[in-house]
Amino acid sequence: MKQAWWKGAAIYQIYPRSFYDTNADGIGDLKGIIEKLPYIAQLGVEALWIAPFFKSPMDDFGYDVSDYRQVDPMFGTNADFEHLIARSHGLGLKVIIDMVASHTSDQHQWFKESRASLDNEKSEWYVWADPMLDGSPPNNWQSVFGGSSWQWDAQRQQYYLHNFLASQPDLNFHNQQLRAAVLDEFRFWLDLGVDGFRLDTANYYLHDKELRNNPPRHGLDRGSFLANGSTPYNYQEHLFDKNRPENIAWLEEMRTLVNSYDERVLIGEIGDRDASKLMGEYTQGKNRLHTAYSFKLLTDSQGPEFIAHAVNELNTDIGDGWPTWAMSNHDVPRVASRWLQQSEHSTIPIEILRQQQAKFYLALLSALPGSMCLYNGEELGLAEANLELHHLQDPVGLRGWPIQKGRDGCRTPIPWLRDKAHAGFTQAEPWLVVDKNHLDMAVDSQLLHSESVLNFTRNFLTWRKQYSLFRSAHLQVCTCENQLLTLQLGPDRGERLSAYFNFSAKPITSSIPSRSHLLSPPNSAATLDRSNLTLPAWDFAFCISEH
Ligand code: BGC
Repeated sequence: MKQAWWKGAAIYQIYPRSFYDTNADGIGDLKGIIEKLPYIAQLGVEALWIAPFFKSPMDDFGYDVSDYRQVDPMFGTNADFEHLIARSHGLGLKVIIDMVASHTSDQHQWFKESRASLDNEKSEWYVWADPMLDGSPPNNWQSVFGGSSWQWDAQRQQYYLHNFLASQPDLNFHNQQLRAAVLDEFRFWLDLGVDGFRLDTANYYLHDKELRNNPPRHGLDRGSFLANGSTPYNYQEHLFDKNRPENIAWLEEMRTLVNSYDERVLIGEIGDRDASKLMGEYTQGKNRLHTAYSFKLLTDSQGPEFIAHAVNELNTDIGDGWPTWAMSNHDVPRVASRWLQQSEHSTIPIEILRQQQAKFYLALLSALPGSMCLYNGEELGLAEANLELHHLQDPVGLRGWPIQKGRDGCRTPIPWLRDKAHAGFTQAEPWLVVDKNHLDMAVDSQLLHSESVLNFTRNFLTWRKQYSLFRSAHLQVCTCENQLLTLQLGPDRGERLSAYFNFSAKPITSSIPSRSHLLSPPNSAATLDRSNLTLPAWDFAFCISEH
């Protein structure tokens, strides 16, 4: 049977504000994405995921939707989107959009109606609650961005729940009419031909109806939390404000709808410290999510032992479900900075090391069991941009500076042309400054260098397509020994793919099972002498063997 297209796929995440601006307003747009579709197709990816482009006041840069059915004018029109779908499909690319359905903007018509009175048709579409006797909020729940997750509303004389900004009120998924209305919004885009949804905050839809307090987090170390800018959100065990068992039935409703269309996919973002178990629960069987997006490699923790542990843990917990991996996205510092490893005595210039490691991490991402997401700019090996306070746009950074610098450093514009103003991203002032350290990494100059990260990405992902084992989620082994990470993918009997990654600044020689056949991916200088595999520093190898 043919494997579903999304299984093992490489998905390219686009942050549309920063991708490419065609109407000279300093903000990327859908026409910009359309213009760059051949570039995306040449990367060798199978699909694109576009972060929200719906109508929005942009308090959280599109993750606060005020109309799910309209493209925000700053990004273009619905006709542009239809054009984007048609062009993408013409190039063999699937299109996934970002459904931010757990909350809306406070400017959404639903919220305006809901807040108008206690007894209107939509009065229960959001989570409203009376104050405590002393006037304080209904319970101790905290918002991810800091402070109580309850906001007082003068119109209704009640509090409403918001897990993020106060202008992102939480929808009430205990209400059946609301569920039906949300499904209609999904249907709208399915009918337009989208191939799937990335479900924003998929474990936040349902809250505890009784509004019970969350208990304090086990073993809480407040000192270290405060020092790294963590919000009190992280002081709690989130038993009641998210991760509710009641969520499952709603996931099943979404799946039933999506199943009534051909080959569409639901990718759930599951943000939690202990997400692996939820990822398993949410993706098991055939009537929940198709796949869950893992945060495990989006952390500061790093290195082969950490990765082996993360991969094994998720592999155990996910059961017959399907994981999707990422190392960068629009919420965390770019992997080329976050995971940059410099050895003390190395004489190699840092930018060369960064490029070498960017290729290495990309090869690793592509060999993890499941599907993968590549964040725009990762194919260029971009480092996290270094921004100053006056550049900031993200509400998280504006609140948290200087301890928590927010998410703008990974959201700066893509550098297309090295010598053009704003790196050719826009002809106006960009909404967020282009990092001048990114100029040398611009697309046009990388295309001229055969050894560039961009050329590597193109060659590598295209090369990878010949081997169906890269699309497997069947992990046999993942181990780490002396800085060598080894993964083995494939069925119990038959051909398997073994992947080896040298995380050290020195060559490693290791004995591997005999009868292994060494593949020749771009950029690998590994050699196999009988059963001795030698990997130069920060290099990788892939072998096929029969079992
Ligand atoms: C998105 C964030 C956003 C949050 C609230 C997420 O997890 O990735 O960018 O701020 O949801 O919608």
